[in-house]
Amino acid sequence: MVKSLTLSKAYRLLNHGPTTLITSSHNNKHNIMAAAWACALDFDPPKVTVVIDKNTYTRELIEASGTFAINLPCVAQKNMVKQVGSCSGRDMTTDKFAQYNISTFAAQQISAPLVEGCVAWLECKIIPEPHNQNTYDLFIAEVIAAYADERVFSDGRWHFEGYDDLRTIHHVAGGAFFATGESVQAI
Ligand SMILES: Cc1cc2nc3c(=O)[nH]c(=O)nc-3n(C[C@H](O)[C@H](O)[C@H](O)COP(=O)(O)O)c2cc1C
Repeated sequence: MVKSLTLSKAYRLLNHGPTTLITSSHNNKHNIMAAAWACALDFDPPKVTVVIDKNTYTRELIEASGTFAINLPCVAQKNMVKQVGSCSGRDMTTDKFAQYNISTFAAQQISAPLVEGCVAWLECKIIPEPHNQNTYDLFIAEVIAAYADERVFSDGRWHFEGYDDLRTIHHVAGGAFFATGESVQAI
């Protein structure tokens, strides 16, 4: 039986790609937010897209610095992902890293901090496309550095067997996530 959906909920059919954490920094202000709408766009030079709403503090920092990082959180970090995706750094006296005890390490090419305990990190430089940014909140960026935890990513692919807490998470709705499941091999 096929059931039709309310169109405003159609995005949920595609929404369970890995949820990401977008980190940003400008003039010594640092921030972090959750983003489910991040996507690969091109191989070489590598490019990605991410949707960053106009009302977010992240938007202000990434437009000012021209850079951001995409961090890939895992099952062990699900509560923190929901927390940083449910409040704005703009409203805080401190920042979300201090508020939620989030440890970071320095990126190689950009000022945005990288989140410890994530399983992969992409440092990104915005390719300015004002029309897309203003109309669709859509940012295109070149990936200028990338690394991953080799316990779960090596030889160019993910393999989470034996590391359930390091599986990437995929947002369903309302703070519910799937963990990346078993791999299946086509012949
Ligand atoms: C699981 C999850 C996924 C989210 N995905 C996005 C997204 O793709 N784009 C976006 O603009 N906001 C997204 N949000 C909302 C932002 O994370 C939220 O507005 C956040 O408070 C912005 O923080 P900031 O103002 O400190 O930048 C998501 C929130 C959650 C919990």
